[in-house]
Amino acid sequence: MTTTHAAYDQHAAWYEDFVTGNPYTQLVSALLTELLGTGTGLAVELGCGTGIHADTVRATGRTPIGFDISAGQLGFAAGRLPVARADVAAIPLPDASVSTVIAVLIHTDVPDYPAALREAARILKPGGRFVHIGVHPCFTGAFSDRSDPARVIITSELYGHTGVSFESWSPNGVRARVGARHLPIADLINATLAAGLTLTTTAERGQGPLPDLFGIAATRS
Ligand SMILES: C[S@@+](CC[C@H](N)C(=O)[O-])C[C@H]1O[C@@H](n2cnc3c(N)ncnc32)[C@H](O)[C@@H]1O
Repeated sequence: MTTTHAAYDQHAAWYEDFVTGNPYTQLVSALLTELLGTGTGLAVELGCGTGIHADTVRATGRTPIGFDISAGQLGFAAGRLPVARADVAAIPLPDASVSTVIAVLIHTDVPDYPAALREAARILKPGGRFVHIGVHPCFTGAFSDRSDPARVIITSELYGHTGVSFESWSPNGVRARVGARHLPIADLINATLAAGLTLTTTAERGQGPLPDLFGIAATRS
């Protein structure tokens, strides 16, 4: 465990306000809808936070359930979907038991995202769908200054830093409050493949022409 979950416990009310009605959340929801497509059965959200994506998942035909390490976050999520407190690296569900797993905006929070990907693959039924959505690993991180919508300025000596950093061009986001990690895009894709997931689609989205979200849809082999 890391201090990450404790930080969200302290900031859960702020996070709930931050994501509710935020155009960024709408962008994430639209991408989630697209990458999920329609489906049935249980959809597990790893690191569900305050459960803001529950209705989006329901609208695809699935039944969402959520797991998160932060009791504070789960206090809000419980009003939106069935939840339980668990580490994403140890989800209390049997092997091959669910048809969908999603991981939205968590790869910069969890200490070992490859372990979370392996856990997603473990609980997925063969042919089940996995969707990852996260901040774009090339254009968003402690290494990037996005204060000018027309350009992203990358600081080369910060790019290789994968540990928790509070460095941010914006004082208003998650990074400045709870810190965030960096997983380079090749490591993210390679870890997804190594978990036994087969990529079907990748996607880039942004509020402007420069993407700030990167998404992956994959199936359990
Ligand atoms: C940025 S929030 C994203 C929440 C939600 N998925 C969303 O899109 O709004 C990251 C979440 O990951 C959770 N988290 C961090 N490390 C975790 C871990 N090891 N196991 C489970 N959840 C974790 C945090 O508590 C937090 O709720």
